[in-house]
Amino acid sequence: MLYKPASWKTNEDIVREWDAIAVQRLDQIDSGRDSSFTNILAPMMLRAVSEGVQSSVLDLGCGSGTLTEMMAERATRVTGVDPSSKNIELATQHHSPPNVNYVCATAEAFNNEMSVGFDVVVANMVLMDVVDLAGFLGAAFRNLNPGGRFFATIANPDLWPEYWGYESAPWFDRRSETPIEGPFVISEERSKLVTTHIHRPVRSYREAFAAIGFEETNIVELLAPSLSSLDNDVPEMLPRFLFISAVRSGFEPGV
Ligand SMILES: C[S@@+](CC[C@H](N)C(=O)[O-])C[C@H]1O[C@@H](n2cnc3c(N)ncnc32)[C@H](O)[C@@H]1O
Repeated sequence: MLYKPASWKTNEDIVREWDAIAVQRLDQIDSGRDSSFTNILAPMMLRAVSEGVQSSVLDLGCGSGTLTEMMAERATRVTGVDPSSKNIELATQHHSPPNVNYVCATAEAFNNEMSVGFDVVVANMVLMDVVDLAGFLGAAFRNLNPGGRFFATIANPDLWPEYWGYESAPWFDRRSETPIEGPFVISEERSKLVTTHIHRPVRSYREAFAAIGFEETNIVELLAPSLSSLDNDVPEMLPRFLFISAVRSGFEPGV
């Protein structure tokens, strides 16, 4: 079994994992070897960000900044926030056009020093790695201008357990929130380094978005080839990811 249950971790524990894997992730993404990032996730996010007029974007959990820089071609300014100092260092070195700035902080602790909020907040493949989901979503909401949109992608919790073989493990209950450790895997490449994700049923995400005050929360499946069929002429397509969009209502009480 590649995956095993873990204790609930602190943000410091999570940051140590992402610091350790940062150089490897930058290389996987920028070389195009992370085919899900290149072919599915980044195009989806770029389409979403490009829907509005030129806008300001907050990239929460920006990692080593590849997507942050791509979004900067479609936005007036982009701020990338990540608590992993190694990722912020790499992002600053490799993906720093003039309209991007990076801040090393958790989303929860991020303090926007500008006098205005953001039109769009994104979190690409971050929410399932976040310990305090309510705190993270609260930060996304707080930093959005009224009427602003939040876009996120996550690994599909309805597929992941079966896909990675722990669905029938005695410790696993798909209805509960469970921290799980395992090797970081992209297209046929398995890292020796371990990261933690939190299994949360889709219902938990819906409830968390509603509790924060997001409206029009919409969750759609993104199809991607299964890793075992990548080289097939006709790959097997599975709903490996979810795309979540939500709106911070333009209605301000008392205005
Ligand atoms: C799978 S990586 C995704 C990185 C990037 N968004 C991308 O598309 O390559 C998850 C990132 O979430 C960050 N992260 C974890 N907890 C966080 C938190 N509370 N606030 C902001 N970022 C967090 C990690 O440091 C890591 O860089």
